[in-house]
Amino acid sequence: MQSEGRKAHWEGIYTSKSENEVSWFQENPAPSLELIAQIGATPASAIIDIGGGASRLVDNLVEQGFEDVTVLDLSETALEAAKARLRDDAGHVHWILADVTVWEPLKAYDIWHDRAAFHFLTGDHDRAAYVARLERALKVGGYAIIATFALDGPEQCSGLPVVRYDPESLGQTLGRSFRLVDTRRHAHATPWGTEQSFQFSVFCHGPSPAPTR
Ligand SMILES: C[S@@+](CC[C@H](N)C(=O)[O-])C[C@H]1O[C@@H](n2cnc3c(N)ncnc32)[C@H](O)[C@@H]1O
Repeated sequence: MQSEGRKAHWEGIYTSKSENEVSWFQENPAPSLELIAQIGATPASAIIDIGGGASRLVDNLVEQGFEDVTVLDLSETALEAAKARLRDDAGHVHWILADVTVWEPLKAYDIWHDRAAFHFLTGDHDRAAYVARLERALKVGGYAIIATFALDGPEQCSGLPVVRYDPESLGQTLGRSFRLVDTRRHAHATPWGTEQSFQFSVFCHGPSPAPTR
């Protein structure tokens, strides 16, 4: 899908549905918070939530004292909803309105978090563009926490096809600069009570491997 079509799709979703009318709504983003704590994040850790949308992860991070939090999403409506919810605290957060596949990162982060955005990239070109941004925007020694639908998860979300991953296939897609350090499955309960299988995987960004001759 082209960037404009993708943006129009997500704007359509966020302008027509309220927070708890979307399948991915989480009152408490506990799996993400647990993994962020487990990798040893401190309040000074720079963290970016890719495709953060209107997620409540940012509220929790600000409440826990994280001082350098960025939320990136291509939907202005989603970002505005999160800002309105945070009120004065929104001013302590960096907001980036962009499609991650064409975004030009201006700094490097300690933690890259993505829950349910990467799996919408079904084309090789888009996936390669994502990984190129991940390599540039994540410090060497930093961690990427990426949650996708698991192999037994849904084949579609929000009317769009997704690619389902296990930790190995996700690692292969990210390439040799990323070493899998942790993984867990999570059964997400949608607001209407059905279950979706997610796979959360944590990768450490190592130095780029030397080119082979
Ligand atoms: C299923 S929602 C998940 C939202 C949030 N991560 C959460 O856990 O509540 C997917 C989000 O990714 C965003 N998104 C999809 N493709 C994107 C892209 N290429 N660049 C940036 N954001 C994207 C959508 O606007 C949407 O907010």
